[in-house]
Parts: sequence; structure tokens; C-alpha cells
Amino acid sequence: MTYLVTGGAGFIGANFVKYILNKYTDCKIVILDKLTYAGNLGTIKKELQDKRVSFYKGDICNQELVENIFMNHDIDVVVNFAAESHVDRSIEDPGIFLKTNILGTQVLMDAAKAHWTKGKNAQGYPVFTEGKKFLQVSTDEVYGELEKDIPDGRTLEVVSEVLKSVLNDRKVMPKVFGTEFFTEETPLKPRSPYAVSKTAADMLVRAYADTYHFPVNVTRCSNNYGPYHFPEKLIPLIIKNILSGEKLPVYGDGRQVRDWLYVEDHCKGIDLVINKGRLKEAYNIGGFNEELNINIVKQTIDIVRDLIFENKVIKPEYKEIVSVNYDDCSYDLITFVKDRLGHDARYAIDPAKTVKELGFYPETPFTEGIRKTIKWYLENQWWVGEVASGDYQKYYEQMYGNR
Ligand SMILES: NC(=O)c1ccc[n+]([C@@H]2O[C@H](COP(=O)([O-])OP(=O)(O)OC[C@H]3O[C@@H](n4cnc5c(N)ncnc54)[C@H](O)[C@@H]3O)[C@@H](O)[C@H]2O)c1
Repeated sequence: MTYLVTGGAGFIGANFVKYILNKYTDCKIVILDKLTYAGNLGTIKKELQDKRVSFYKGDICNQELVENIFMNHDIDVVVNFAAESHVDRSIEDPGIFLKTNILGTQVLMDAAKAHWTKGKNAQGYPVFTEGKKFLQVSTDEVYGELEKDIPDGRTLEVVSEVLKSVLNDRKVMPKVFGTEFFTEETPLKPRSPYAVSKTAADMLVRAYADTYHFPVNVTRCSNNYGPYHFPEKLIPLIIKNILSGEKLPVYGDGRQVRDWLYVEDHCKGIDLVINKGRLKEAYNIGGFNEELNINIVKQTIDIVRDLIFENKVIKPEYKEIVSVNYDDCSYDLITFVKDRLGHDARYAIDPAKTVKELGFYPETPFTEGIRKTIKWYLENQWWVGEVASGDYQKYYEQMYGNR
């Protein structure tokens, strides 16, 4: 199968490229990425050497480039990760979000539609070559926010037999902070410019399915975390600041609730939707890991402290990268800052449809995923350093500058 992965140098896209290359020996992957501040070729340095991978630096809004890619490669599946993805930036400057996230999706779909059409049926609908699919990576933010009517959370009572069967091996049952959840039928009510741009793209993709019978799926996932996450997002930012003993900025009172999904579980979910998802359908991909932001920060401090110190002394292997003392590595680092405008109170996904239809299961409980993530950051400070200094941009010049 040949995949076109847009945004493949970003956080989730790069993890997906690694996941697919590992899982399918006979795949081919074409990556299209504009390498904005969030795209990092260093993340996929090894993968770029793989014969199965081709890389194009460019914009998904560039119709000529996108058409050329379809002419040069027999693309079977488009996985559209490319997006402006940071809510705070969308509040500062919405324009680029609308352009990339909506118009870019349209350009990709038009090129795929033109190349995958093999004729017309009696009613005038295009007929597409078998096995082609456009997968739009959307977000749970399209649904807006949920009430946080259980402010301190309580253990999830699983009534559905399907969910019971997949949650059976969890040692600690997930917490919930409200009585309502997003299902695929929940009306879309986005509340930030970012969420609106993703909603417009999500609806456009499904409109192409209705209007042209274009073969699509949409996935809507919760907050991802894991290796290679750009350090402006909550978890990597917190890890980076703890290691250097800097303050940990937390919005408002820190009592917003998010559902955390380990990025590799997300990649597994997307792979299932590509292979088993019914055309035209949207699928929620959630982590069964609702938690207050402030508790995420506290757990991260606890685990970093546990991993880097032995008898209150920094372990030798971390001496180079840690500049905080044992006593200062505490909740006192937390500082509450002015809340984000229009900050959504709670997101929580009901993944029952994806579990039931596709056998999806987010295997990684937060306590395990956050430990793996922190260990990865401790062992890969070179990556954080490159991102922070902008050095990763040199890879492009080194690898592609003279070609
Ligand atoms: N990270 C999350 O928690 C999360 C949650 C829900 C949904 N999503 C969605 O998943 C997708 C990937 O998210 P991420 O966190 O990996 O984002 P990211 O910001 O880390 O990566 C985005 C990638 O897209 C590239 N890009 C941006 N504009 C482009 C353009 N015009 N043309 C080509 N490439 C472009 C960037 O260079 C970067 O490599 C996005 O569509 C996002 O909306 C993310």
C-alpha cells in the first residue's frame, strides 16, 4: 500500500510514519510537509534513509505540487495530519489556520478525486478505483466542550459489555469528571478558531463523501502525548521546565479536564480505521484517561523526581541535562497564569463505536504512558535541544538543500 502522509514531520505524523514502517514491510510512504516551526526533519532522520520513504517539502495548499505527487506515485491512502495545530496560536492569528486546515484539505481531496476517478455511474456520481481512501485526522475539539458536573472526578462505571471487555485488564479503572461524553453523533460546536478550522475541514471531507461518493473516513481523537511532541504543548513543556528548574505555567485554576491518548495507541487506531473503517464514517479515538490539567502537572513532577534522583542526588546519567535540586523539584514550581480566552472546560470521548466496530483499544493507561514519555525525553534531550535552538532546520539544508 502507498500512503501519502501529510504533516509527517510533525508530532503525530512522524509517530505514524514510524509505526507503519515497522508494521508493514511492503509499504511505501510519501511524506508532504511544509516544515513549519512544528515540523522537524530530525524526528524522521532515520526514516528518510529508508528506501520505502519519499519526502516532499511543500504546502498542502500548493495545487501544482500536490497534483505532481499524485502523478508520480500511485497513492492508495491519504492520511491528512498537516495542520496548524496550536490553539493559542490560532487565538493570536486565525488566518493561517483557516487557509491550511480548510483550503489545504480541499486541495488534497481534489487532487485525490481527480486521480482516483475511473468513470461515472448512471446517476452521474464518480466511480473510484477500489481500495482508495482519504483519512482526515480531525479532533475532539470539533464537539466543543462538556460540562464538568463531577468536579473532583469519580471512577468510571462501565455499563456497556463491549467497554467492559476491553477495560478488564486495566489495573486502575479510568476516572470521569462528568456524565456526558462525545459520541460521533454529538453536534459539532467548536469554540476556538483552531477548532472551527478543523470542524470546517471535517465537514468538507464528509460533504465530499455525500456529493461525490468520495471514499473517506474521519477520525476524532483526544489530546495526544508521547515522544517527539513539540515543547510548546503542556506535557513536554512541563518536563523541559522541571529539568531546568523553571516555573511551570498552568492556565487559570488548572481544573480543565482533558482525555489523554498515548500517541502510539492513536497510530494503531488510525491504522484500524484505514483497514476496517466503513467508508463515510467518523470514528472517535480516545484514551480512557480523563484528568485535570493540574493533576497531569503534579504527576509529571512526581515521576520526573522519581526518575532523576537517587537518595536526593541527581543520578550520574542525568547530571548533564538536569539543573534542578531535589528540594526545588516540587509542586512549588507550579505557577498559575491568566487563563486562555474561551478555555474549554472538559473534553471526554466515548470510543464505544470504534471499540465495537474495529476492535480498537487504547492499551496505555496514563500512569504507564507518562512514565514512558518522560523516560524518552530524558534520553533524547538532543532532540529537545535541536527543537529549542531551531537547529533541526539545518537538516533540510543538509539533506535536500542542493538537490
Ligand atoms: N496533538 C494532539 O493532541 C491532537 C489532538 C487532536 C487532533 N490533532 C490533529 O492531528 C494532526 C497532527 O497534529 P500534531 O500534534 O502532530 O501537529 P504538529 O503541529 O506537531 O504537526 C503538524 C505538521 O504539519 C506540517 N504543516 C503545517 N502546515 C502545513 C502545510 N500548509 N502544508 C504541509 N505541511 C504543513 C508542520 O510542518 C508539521 O510537521 C493535526 O491535524 C491536528 O489537528 C492533534
